[in-house]
Amino acid sequence: MAQIIVVTSGKGGVGKSSTCAMVGAALGQAGMRTLLLETDSGLRGLDIMLGVEDQTVYDLSDVLLGRCEPIKAIAHSPLSENLHLISAPFDPGFLPDQKDLVRLTRGLSYYYDYLLIDTPAGLGASFHVCTQVADRGLLVVTPDPICVRDGARVADLLYERGLTDLRLIINKVGSKPPKGGRIIPDLDDVIDATRVQLIGVVPYEEQVVSATSLGKNLSSGLLAGQAFRNIAARLCGKQVQLAML
Ligand SMILES: Nc1ncnc2c1ncn2[C@@H]1O[C@H](COP(=O)(O)OP(=O)(O)OP(=O)(O)O)[C@@H](O)[C@H]1O
Ligand SMILES: [Mg+2]
Repeated sequence: MAQIIVVTSGKGGVGKSSTCAMVGAALGQAGMRTLLLETDSGLRGLDIMLGVEDQTVYDLSDVLLGRCEPIKAIAHSPLSENLHLISAPFDPGFLPDQKDLVRLTRGLSYYYDYLLIDTPAGLGASFHVCTQVADRGLLVVTPDPICVRDGARVADLLYERGLTDLRLIINKVGSKPPKGGRIIPDLDDVIDATRVQLIGVVPYEEQVVSATSLGKNLSSGLLAGQAFRNIAARLCGKQVQLAML
């Protein structure tokens, strides 16, 4: 049975979808059958990140509403032969029904080792639905004070709902603070503020932007790529280095 992992954040644009794509690719390359479920209704990105833009005909809403069999909506990524995607609903107003999502994820669990659920930022209705079906969570933050405070709020809500297997990814570490703004320099302070156990630290690297916009894997020597591979390895229970800085 697959592990079902929800990838969340408080603030938007912190790297949830990039994490799903890159950790998903690393899991796939390690031989783990991995399916990404994209739930940001009306807003897609993972099809481009996974290089399957031309394969996307049916989406998550078609599967949940019984308009097609799951297999018809599953795209196969060239990043890894074990990496698949069901794209986000095209309709911006679509909200997955919790029972339908539970039924779908349970059914798909027989065919995969990992299901990664990419969620929209924030605490909207789909956050509540997606977090209810997951066994584990990944909270993505950047070392920005607002992002960390919002992330802590998300973590509290997840703990309250009983999702205790939650791990923290600190992304875009080393990016320049905005002009006149600030970032939190000490990663221990980020961990303390969110009160979530760390699973990985990913450096800011321009190649993450270019590779994900082209649907390509990161180059093998890139530190961010190694950081995503280490997160995948730790999800599989392996003891590997936390930070790549
Ligand atoms: N480690 C990184 N280094 C550099 N750029 C990154 C890194 N991680 C993500 N990015 C870039 O940050 C931007 C936002 O990333 P992404 O779309 O993955 O965030 P998100 O949390 O899914 O956003 P949303 O909340 O809108 O769904 C993208 O341009 C992506 O390429
Ligand atoms: Mg996203």
